[in-house]
Amino acid sequence: MLATDAAWLKRFPELEILIDSDTLQARVRELGEQITRDYGAHPPLLVGVLKGSLVFLADLMRAIPLPVSYDFVAISSYGAETQTTGQVRLIKDLDSPIHGRHVLVVEDIYDTGLTLSYLLGLLRQREPASLRVCTLLAKPARRQVALEIAYCGFEIPDKFVVGYGLDYAERYRNLPFIAVLQGQP
Ligand code: IMP
Ligand code: MG
Repeated sequence: MLATDAAWLKRFPELEILIDSDTLQARVRELGEQITRDYGAHPPLLVGVLKGSLVFLADLMRAIPLPVSYDFVAISSYGAETQTTGQVRLIKDLDSPIHGRHVLVVEDIYDTGLTLSYLLGLLRQREPASLRVCTLLAKPARRQVALEIAYCGFEIPDKFVVGYGLDYAERYRNLPFIAVLQGQP
């Protein structure tokens, strides 16, 4: 384990590291290279889903040496719970129109898929030139909606994870790694 990750764990003994920060950073670089190759002359608009995707988006865009822009939406589905309520709601819309643009949605985790399918439906109505998804994590065990995911960082087991943007009751978003929160469903 990295010394810096180990130092965090001393302060957060309830966590167990699932993906350490080196592995995370290496994979984010790979995703950036792949996106750069695929989009080339047609730089995408990166659409981050607040708040979870913030850390991932910040690192990912710096691994894409193209003139990209970014914008945010905010969607609520969870509150402070660890289980989805199935209720999805748009809290903050994009600042600009996306008609005719190449849109790449950047998400923290594809879990049940309810959030992403709602968002993709909403964005598709605005007729972007293309619409794809880049998710850092996917939890195949809990899938309710099957979606086409163009870029996926890691498939993870059916455990509640925190860190690198992901929270439990707004905590742990600032961890530089992905960890399992012990004692959560
Ligand atoms: P979905 O709609 O079930 O796919 O859930 C997507 C959203 O739920 C993500 O954007 C996260 O904010 C949250 N979420 C799902 N699984 C986890 C997890 O293991 N840890 C933290 N947040 C999660
Ligand atoms: Mg959350």
